Amino acid sequence: MKGIILSGGTGTRLHPLTKVTSKQLLPVYNKPMILYPLETLLKAGVRDILIIIAPDHAGDYKKLLGSGEEFGCRLTYKIQEKPEGLAQAFIIGQDFIGNDSVCMILGDNIFEDDFSSNIKDFISGGCIFVKKVSDPERFGVVQFDENRRAIKIVEKPKEHISDYAITGLYIFDNRVVEAARSVKPSARGELEITDLHLWYLQKGELAIENVYGEWIDAGTFESLYRAGELMRHKTIS
Ligand code: TTP
Repeated sequence: MKGIILSGGTGTRLHPLTKVTSKQLLPVYNKPMILYPLETLLKAGVRDILIIIAPDHAGDYKKLLGSGEEFGCRLTYKIQEKPEGLAQAFIIGQDFIGNDSVCMILGDNIFEDDFSSNIKDFISGGCIFVKKVSDPERFGVVQFDENRRAIKIVEKPKEHISDYAITGLYIFDNRVVEAARSVKPSARGELEITDLHLWYLQKGELAIENVYGEWIDAGTFESLYRAGELMRHKTIS
């Protein structure tokens, strides 16, 4: 299983903090944010990891993380020239992925859960992780039927259809490269990860698991602050 940390983007919601650096290099209590998703992958047993970054900050990531030796893993870097959507990661990462399956985590997502059994038990298809939230309109969401079968997946729904947000960790088999190549840009000009979820859902091959521990998408001032508080609490207690 290969790993990808998607760590590009513009971080406009965190301006002016992100005017001179990348969001995923900002501090979350005592570490740069990206170390948390890196630790999530390492804890899950993923040791061959591609970090996708925006052109402006490539040098800083290499200075911080290097070859990965310090962390007991192998790190590869690739540039995403423009933030053209989460699904583009699988096109940029095509050569790195090779013939393997892949677990992608977003560089601003902080999880408490241990995903090692999901990675170890993964055979094929797609697997996404959902969590009940109070602000589902910020995320891709999944609507379930009474038997908890997914019936609909919508990116940032304008009308409420479900409280279950899709979190930023995804496991896909090797067909994700082919699926990403078939995705067309959305109205906002991005290759949407939701389209990859739908690609697997339509084939009846999308597993949907729960996130049990804390999950924070640290992309806003409030959530960045909460992430710092959570990590401070975990560090000193
Ligand atoms: P977002 O938080 O949706 O986008 P952003 O980081 O650019 O922030 P903002 O909306 O405030 O402008 O992205 C989620 C994660 O995915 C984040 O870690 C950045 C990353 N990302 C990329 O690396 N490339 C992309 O094309 C996109 C859309 C996001």
